[in-house]
Amino acid sequence: MVQSSAVRITRRALLAAGIFCNTASADITAIPPGQSLYENHCTDCHESVVHVRNERKARDYPEVRDWVVRWAGAQELDWTGAEVDAVANYLNQNYYNF
Ligand code: HEC
Repeated sequence: MVQSSAVRITRRALLAAGIFCNTASADITAIPPGQSLYENHCTDCHESVVHVRNERKARDYPEVRDWVVRWAGAQELDWTGAEVDAVANYLNQNYYNF
């Protein structure tokens, strides 16, 4: 899958540059549920990289939520609507800002 390897290359470049997104988790007692769900299940493939690329796919909040539903489904996570909302909100607040 071409796109997948593109994501991986970009991520490796970021890691090589020593850029990490640890600021949001500096206070571990205050990690929002959406963030921990995302970090536990979704960061294997793409950390923040996919969400900040110029030609990102999601163009509004409902599309972000659709992607969360799609990826949670692809991994058979069985997330509730509230969990999907939490992750979609987390991504929106940190990357998309719709
Ligand atoms: C198997 C690797 C993999 C996993 C696991 C994965 N993703 Fe993704 N994700 C991708 C790739 C690759 C794309 C880009 C797809 C494209 O461009 O068509 C993507 C795209 C997205 C997008 C859209 C980005 C945009 O362009 O706006 C969102 C949102 C997203 N993923 C959320 C999630 C969430 C939430 C999870 C965890 C439930 C998750 N992903 C798990 C590989 C993965």
